[in-house]
Amino acid sequence: MTDEARLDPAQRGLGDMAPADFRRAAHRVADLVADYLERLETYRVLPGVVPGDVRARLPAAAPAAPEPLDSVLSDYLRLIEPNITHWQHPGFMAYFTSIACGPGILGEWLAAGLNSNVMLWRNAPASTELEETVVAWLRRAFGLPDEFDGMFTDTASISSLTSLVAARHVVPGLEARDEGLAGRPGIGRLRLYASTEAHSSIEKAAIVIGAGRSGLRRIPADDEYRMRPELLAAAIGEDRREGRLPFAVVATTGTTSSTSVDPVDAIADVCVREGLWLHVDAAYGGTAALASELRPLLRGWERADSIVVNPHKWMSTPFDASLLLFRRPEAFRAALSVVPEYLRVRREGEAHDFHEYGIQLGRRFRALKLWFQLRYFGTDGMAARIREHVRLARQLAGWIDAEPDWQRLAPVPFSTVCFRHRPATLAAREDEPEVRAELDRRNEELLARVNASGRFFLSHTKLRDRFTLRVTLGNLRATERHVRDCWALLRESAVS
Ligand SMILES: Cc1ncc(COP(=O)(O)O)c(C=O)c1O
Repeated sequence: MTDEARLDPAQRGLGDMAPADFRRAAHRVADLVADYLERLETYRVLPGVVPGDVRARLPAAAPAAPEPLDSVLSDYLRLIEPNITHWQHPGFMAYFTSIACGPGILGEWLAAGLNSNVMLWRNAPASTELEETVVAWLRRAFGLPDEFDGMFTDTASISSLTSLVAARHVVPGLEARDEGLAGRPGIGRLRLYASTEAHSSIEKAAIVIGAGRSGLRRIPADDEYRMRPELLAAAIGEDRREGRLPFAVVATTGTTSSTSVDPVDAIADVCVREGLWLHVDAAYGGTAALASELRPLLRGWERADSIVVNPHKWMSTPFDASLLLFRRPEAFRAALSVVPEYLRVRREGEAHDFHEYGIQLGRRFRALKLWFQLRYFGTDGMAARIREHVRLARQLAGWIDAEPDWQRLAPVPFSTVCFRHRPATLAAREDEPEVRAELDRRNEELLARVNASGRFFLSHTKLRDRFTLRVTLGNLRATERHVRDCWALLRESAVS
């Protein structure tokens, strides 16, 4: 062995950052994040960049030689921080707000330090048991029955996909896990149901599980964008007569466009009658259940086979965190468990080996950030914040309703308001196609003006083919002042 080889890796320049250097740098990073949160409002919510601007300022190849951390941090401040869309900004009222709260960020940092991979109990004991505990805390905080077990995934898309894999698995005689679906005549084509308003992730799940996009039947919605259960029942009957294989229904409580709530109780009745799996996509709206007086909105979700709620949406948990709750954990395990030899361990007592219930083997330690934030705010504190967002949304809806030149386009069950500018002069002539097109054009331009101000970022949707503005509240940093300012800017920017 050479003298050089006898030295430890750090002495040979082959180890990690030295602990003392890491400590100093970590303090600086903590300051950078705190500074960022303090100066958020000095930034435009949407940065003034066009595609390629940032890339053009980054070297094409990684540096061959080490660079001082100082230059990495200063480039971060110069190139990255100012050129992101500021999801943390109180003026970010687009899509569904997805902010990272302070205690959640701290939990996320600690999880990064531990780098615990929560695949099975033996290689992640405390992380596994904290996940079990936090899942149970959330289930109780939502008022859901104890029968629900669950786990965290990265996104609602994966939670819904995983649920539909389990739903497919329990179809008698299908044996998709072992036999696959392709090239098997006589098994019937899989059919899954969701409303016309359901999220695109359900369509993606249909693609992945082998139902295909044509295997997803979209059930029409009523005037308030809620699935019509009588049409669901009729569609299932028709499909059965045609030899299709209905297996699951997805109900949404808080749709992405209008935040409408499907009648889950009536849908659950259909599922029971037809022997179908019921999955509830409560990615956004489920968080409302933290406030007990809002729970009636979700009535029937307690009857679901599986539910997804995204803490990384309205619950202010740093991205990513999706809570998947299921009533029959064995269906998930039976559908997806594949345990290679190197992961076989003798069981001593009861604990989840979470990798057996989902698609991923390696899993992030997401429970830690939720544990931090649930303890820091308390469930009462979380509920109070949800109530405030709902109050602000209803207040904005009231201002809109009081103005003859503005029109609200959907009910406001949660914290999102859908509306448009519709000058009274045009309202009377709305059945003329040119007037409809003119209203769409004006609202699109209005949205562009508001977003160009840099003070707010709003998004849009189409409701009954009308260009619709959306304001979502749910940012812990946004106050009534921000909502008033946003409304004032909308009014100033509208052309009558
Ligand atoms: C109702 C609903 N479901 C699912 C999703 C997908 O969420 P994720 O990005 O966590 O996959 C969204 C995203 O906005 C949503 O609004």
